[in-house]
Amino acid sequence: MVEYFFPNGKPWEREPVLVINWKGKIYALQATCPHAGLSLEEGFITDDGKITCAWHGSVFDIRTGKRVDGPATRDLKVYKVIENGDEVIISE
Ligand code: FES
Repeated sequence: MVEYFFPNGKPWEREPVLVINWKGKIYALQATCPHAGLSLEEGFITDDGKITCAWHGSVFDIRTGKRVDGPATRDLKVYKVIENGDEVIISE
């Protein structure tokens, strides 16, 4: 799922955020792959907590955003997530 984060409440600076529920915990990551800027929304999530970009195969750790493999040379930005009952708060 892709949501939009508004840094400093400024809608014109919106950043797409990939929100993942992995094993019952919510993670929020940069939604565009740092390799070619394509969406990670179509990526594949593995049982060991990795997401593989569907376009050229870069692999990132869902928990840390660290690049694990593939042509991307940078990590994903990771957002802070606070779960409060049914509400999820995402911030930088
Ligand atoms: S756009 Fe993700 S690996 Fe190329």
